[in-house]
Amino acid sequence: MKRNIVLIGFMGSGKTSVGKRLSINLKREFIDMDDFIEKREGMTVNEIFEKKGEQSFREMERELCRRFAVPKGKIIATGGGVIKNAENVENLKKGGVIVYLSSSPERIAYNLRFDNSRPLLAGENKEKKIAALMEERKGLYENCADITIDVSDMNLDGTLKEIYRALDL
Ligand code: S3P
Repeated sequence: MKRNIVLIGFMGSGKTSVGKRLSINLKREFIDMDDFIEKREGMTVNEIFEKKGEQSFREMERELCRRFAVPKGKIIATGGGVIKNAENVENLKKGGVIVYLSSSPERIAYNLRFDNSRPLLAGENKEKKIAALMEERKGLYENCADITIDVSDMNLDGTLKEIYRALDL
């Protein structure tokens, strides 16, 4: 079976949009981890954080990543925090190639300017929160990426083209 294509990157970097298009174009199954968890729990990520706590959400992520340790040709859009856990990275790598959509904090802030669905960015000073979290995680994304694509100044079509080129698709 083909390896999975695993999209990682900060919130708002475009993993879900890119994953959906890849899935259509390559005729491969698409799984958005946040979406999968939300449907299964019958709650939004915001509600899960609020009612069950972040730790519980991370446990759900971890359990899902275990299932993705096998190459099944899937397109997987991860949540931005998935790379915080080394076991997740190990499992995702076992099953697939890791594509990092790297983006500037400015572009992320722009993409998420009307968004209220990310509990970690809720409240005042969204830009500052993005910058701080990005600083904390940048190295983690870079370390586990097989392929890095800087999408700061790219649209969806440009990003797809880069992915096809990098993966020889
Ligand atoms: C998170 C990213 C979110 C979601 C949750 C936590 C994070 O996913 O999993 O809000 O820790 O970066 P997206 O990257 O799809 O926004």
